[in-house]
Amino acid sequence: MTAQIISGTELAKTIRTGLADEAAKLKANGIEPGLAVILVGDDPASRSYVKGKQKACAEIGIHSFLYTYPATISEEELLAKIRGLNADPAVHGILVQLPLPDHIREWSVIETIAPEKDVDGFHPINVGKMVIGQPAFLPCTPHGVLMMVKSAGIDIVGKHVVVVGRSNIVGKPVGQLFLREHATVTYAHSKTPDLPAVTRQADILIVAVGKARIIGPEHVKPGAVVIDVGVNRLESGKLCGDVDFDTVKEVAGFMTPVPGGVGPMTITMLLHNTIEAARQLAAK
Ligand code: GUN
Repeated sequence: MTAQIISGTELAKTIRTGLADEAAKLKANGIEPGLAVILVGDDPASRSYVKGKQKACAEIGIHSFLYTYPATISEEELLAKIRGLNADPAVHGILVQLPLPDHIREWSVIETIAPEKDVDGFHPINVGKMVIGQPAFLPCTPHGVLMMVKSAGIDIVGKHVVVVGRSNIVGKPVGQLFLREHATVTYAHSKTPDLPAVTRQADILIVAVGKARIIGPEHVKPGAVVIDVGVNRLESGKLCGDVDFDTVKEVAGFMTPVPGGVGPMTITMLLHNTIEAARQLAAK
């Protein structure tokens, strides 16, 4: 038996059709949804992600504003730009592509973004609201993962979810989102002894580490749902996930591919949050 593939590309297409309708409705009411994207430095991966986000915005009718700065920009200059965007009525969402150069404090940048324009869901106010179950912008990758699992008709209540990775962007919040859905959640990370013994307990295994193919069939319970958040570029230039797709698909019940899995869903949830930010402004 080989795993059923959950296609992020397909699900993203369906959701984006609905978002394009929402964008058109807002436009008919005189509001063009706007997303400001800030890119600092010239990391090729960040540049490519930003390009993908802009293309997706254009396709569904969100106006994207791109601001690029050299890696030498000072933190104060960057904060001043964000404050300007906070006050700009044409901008409904603000995204600062991470990571930032070492001399800029990430938390200081995130805390400067107005929470109502924080479409990444990274501001401590939005993180706190997410954890206590209040309405908030949900972080895009974790929200995309949840949508993929739900779209496959997988029951989450009472299931054991094991998250490998504890980043602020993916690992920590994705565990919280599944806890909200009544899963039993375990976090594993680089200091976890005997990782396979932990991951083999998972009904739903979510891997967000950023190391090529570190999860093999020995980590997976037969029939488990395996969600691969990793995007790693091999020397050949090919992309691969944190999960060894070819061997794990012989053990897992459901799997997400890389590329074409979580990636398109991350962008889709960013579009969703931007439309929502514009709608909230329209309702004010
Ligand atoms: N870098 C990697 N993933 C993300 C993301 O979802 N948002 C931002 N702003 N930066 C990232």
